[in-house]
Amino acid sequence: MPWLRALTIPADASDAFGTFLHDLDARLSDPATDRDVLVRDLLAQLVHARSFEALLADAPLAALNLDPRNVTLEAEYYAATDPERFARVKPLLWLWKNFDLTPAGGSATFGIDLRRVLARHVFRRVGRNFKCWQNVEFSVGYNMEVGDDVVVHRNVLLDDIGGIVLHDGASISDFVNVYSHTHSVLDMPDVTLRPTVIGRGARVTYHATVLAGSVISDDAMIATGALVRGPVEPHGIAMGVPARVTRVKDREAFASYVVDSRRDPPPAASKPNPDFPHPTPAQTRLPQPEGLELPRPERLQAERSGS
Ligand SMILES: CC(C)(COP(=O)(O)OP(=O)(O)OC[C@H]1O[C@@H](n2cnc3c(N)ncnc32)[C@H](O)[C@@H]1OP(=O)(O)O)[C@@H](O)C(=O)NCCC(=O)NCCS
Repeated sequence: MPWLRALTIPADASDAFGTFLHDLDARLSDPATDRDVLVRDLLAQLVHARSFEALLADAPLAALNLDPRNVTLEAEYYAATDPERFARVKPLLWLWKNFDLTPAGGSATFGIDLRRVLARHVFRRVGRNFKCWQNVEFSVGYNMEVGDDVVVHRNVLLDDIGGIVLHDGASISDFVNVYSHTHSVLDMPDVTLRPTVIGRGARVTYHATVLAGSVISDDAMIATGALVRGPVEPHGIAMGVPARVTRVKDREAFASYVVDSRRDPPPAASKPNPDFPHPTPAQTRLPQPEGLELPRPERLQAERSGS
């Protein structure tokens, strides 16, 4: 028996939603469309049920905050973000986020279809039947690659600044975090970008965290609450903090694999901050600056206790 039921809504609503989404897709496909104005006007209608101009006259603060040009998002502050590419997708990320925060954002019928249209114009690639529930956050959006039949559940963070690939049939559960960047322990501005790859039919389950550069192979499963920081073999079930494959699914090996961490090299890293280029092997450890004595834990302890 199929796990999911097929549901329908009344034809008048279904037709109105379908017409709206078709029109939105056409307008986003037209390079002449001013996406900032489009989004500002749509949000005024969707959230406040009136024109942007009427809202601006009655409630200027509410109106001004709907316009993407009056808003800055976290990713815009980062040197790794490509300003031109981000400017193209920013209005759509703003529409996505604002819509999700309305009660209608919780409606699967309209919400999932709207996100499918937006993903087509934000992601680097999106396949068939992308199913994305509400309150999913991206860093830049334009570094997402999504295959066919991928599902992303509620309240997920997809930090795609270094690239995230979700292969066909991958599933990301509620409250999962997937990263593609990391910071040096010694120098916070020393950032490394590394794509994170989630294989065909792989499942990352509730509240798991996947760190930058992890490769989760086809049909692998990440247990609830796990912290993944490297490769996970095909069919493996990885558990714990840090996650280790403790069990392997009892099924026939696939004839071929799209993502296989036993075969694939780890994703290449890049360094977006020119002040911190790739270290040569001789530079893998930072020298201690001359004359600077770093406090030792026992010294701090002694200072705190006053001895
Ligand atoms: C991985 C998972 C499937 C294991 O479930 P299970 O097969 O019923 O496993 P059990 O409860 O029999 O536990 C087996 C062992 O794994 C350990 N274990 C189970 N889940 C664990 C977890 N999330 N983290 C760490 N260890 C875990 C158990 O402690 C037990 O260890 P032991 O043998 O030393 O006693 C389950 O923890 C899980 O993550 N489910 C996710 C549900 C899901 O699919 N969500 C997505 C919906 S979209």
